[in-house]
Amino acid sequence: MKVQSSKFKAQSKSSNVSRPTSHDYLTIALPKGRVMKQALKIFSKIGVEPPDAIEESRKLIFDDKENGLRFLVVKPTDVPTYVEYGAADIGVAGKDVLMDQERDVYEPLDLKIGRCRMIVAEPSALSAKDDPSQWTSIRIATKYPNITERYFASKGIQVELIKLYGSIELAPLIGLSERIVDLVETGETLRQNGLVEVDEIMKITSRLIVNRASLKIKFGNILFLWEPLAQLVEHLTFNQVVLGSIPGRLTIYF
Ligand code: PRP
Repeated sequence: MKVQSSKFKAQSKSSNVSRPTSHDYLTIALPKGRVMKQALKIFSKIGVEPPDAIEESRKLIFDDKENGLRFLVVKPTDVPTYVEYGAADIGVAGKDVLMDQERDVYEPLDLKIGRCRMIVAEPSALSAKDDPSQWTSIRIATKYPNITERYFASKGIQVELIKLYGSIELAPLIGLSERIVDLVETGETLRQNGLVEVDEIMKITSRLIVNRASLKIKFGNILFLWEPLAQLVEHLTFNQVVLGSIPGRLTIYF
């Protein structure tokens, strides 16, 4: 892991900003999986060069002693937990996870990566004769029970929730539920499983999140990353930052 010192310094202009030292690690929780590549790309744009091995390795901790940075590789749904409890000072977490878990963390920056949408879907055969405006009571399989419950409660629709942890699109195919609430990015998983979108709940991006105590105790160190990240996401378009790193998966949004 290599920090390009001059570039990194140049982007941090505030007098409150200080470079982390090896005695005072700043711990960053990164989400394993599809957002990881985009998060690493963003960090590399501000001069933090992660190790090549971080995506392929089975190691879960990567230390950059020279620059006082520690990267943790964790399940996306666990990032807010690590940050809330202070096991990580900062993290990258999807808005879907943050809204469903309602963790006590600061969420200071939309990183504009990990773009996708949370939608309601059902089999195309059912959709042909279905009218969502007539729903009064439905059964939904989802990884997001809290968001789903709140969304349908706001519409006055009673929901029986089935909590799953993955492969949500399978549920309507084998009769576990008629409908699902899940994320859609390219739409390929829906298409390949004969499902169609019938409602959009919200648009999702990944956020920088910060532990409340760390923000006070390590303010300078956090600002050291936060400031250039904020400059980056405001000045560059998502295409310039990320597109090209994951060919074919993100193009429908731009
Ligand atoms: C996510 C999501 C959908 C799929 C959507 O699943 O839950 O299943 O990606 O992507 P697409 O629109 O580009 O096809 P993920 O790959 O995280 O795995 P999971 O099903 O185990 O949650």
